[in-house]
Amino acid sequence: MINSQLKKIAVFTSGGDSPGMNACIRAVVRTAIYNDLDVWGIEQGYKGMIEGNFRQLKSSSVGNIMQKGGTILHSARCQEFRTKEGRKKAYDNLIKMGIQGLIAIGGDGTFKGAEIFTKEYNIPFIGCPGTIDNDLYGTDFTIGYDTAINTAMRAIDNIKDTAQAHNRLFFIEVMGRDAGFIALRSGIATGAEAVLIPEKKTNIEALISTLERLHKLKNSSSIVIVAEGDDEGGAFEIARKVGEKFKEHEIKVSVLGHIQRGGSPSCMDRVLASKLGLEATKALITGKRGKMVGQVNSKIVFTDFQRTTKHNLTINPSLLEMIEVLV
Ligand code: F6P
Repeated sequence: MINSQLKKIAVFTSGGDSPGMNACIRAVVRTAIYNDLDVWGIEQGYKGMIEGNFRQLKSSSVGNIMQKGGTILHSARCQEFRTKEGRKKAYDNLIKMGIQGLIAIGGDGTFKGAEIFTKEYNIPFIGCPGTIDNDLYGTDFTIGYDTAINTAMRAIDNIKDTAQAHNRLFFIEVMGRDAGFIALRSGIATGAEAVLIPEKKTNIEALISTLERLHKLKNSSSIVIVAEGDDEGGAFEIARKVGEKFKEHEIKVSVLGHIQRGGSPSCMDRVLASKLGLEATKALITGKRGKMVGQVNSKIVFTDFQRTTKHNLTINPSLLEMIEVLV
């Protein structure tokens, strides 16, 4: 069913930025204009919604941005939107601006906010999954994940060269406060000796046994990938615990950090972002609301905001098996 009332929509990016957000903004803007809608951008996500920071976007506003990392609309994590008063201010600004539909590009915090907001205020709202963490239910991949794991992979490859030259044991911390998806795939792609993730309890003794066994077998350098949210601590803490008992190698730690969030998006991310931005806008036009658009097995699917959060997600056991068997 077409929502024929819909004349003016707004798009924003929220939470941690991810490579491909710009391609998604572009797709939303161009699809909206193609369908005779006015489209506005909200600066800095929910923060800009509360502060009334809106600007109209034309087709030319989103030219030449596909290849850029970050987000032209800027992003923020907004505490005030967690309060009823903050959300009221945001809604009042949307009404004042005549905005009739919203598209958010963000991660689980963004969609938790969207879920509450749509319960309180009856506004058509669609989400696009934009986070390097890949920790949303309802899509095989989030916008930015492919670029981030390739950035991490290249950095780890570089570290492996020097680790090998000096026969060192490296603990490399990758992003993922609550999720191990970056750690898992970058670990598999670089042949890491072990990968520690928040979804699986870390056993330091077992890790030391693995490192000792490999040391006897290969007597060469080793790489352990640590997701930043691991239950035994970050890479420095885990390196300290292992170093107390494992003396065979000199130990070094490297934290990759925000290098993983920036950079020009990969082809996969640009195409995924373009597809999801287009489908999100079409969804608003056809009267869908309160859902995130995703791609599962190459098909477009819509998932209620409340179901997108990570606790509905499980780690694919075959990824864990690969680490264990192929080491
Ligand atoms: O956006 C996701 C993410 O990059 C996580 O992997 C990381 O834990 C967090 O954001 C870091 O956020 P901030 O840049 O706000 O410190």
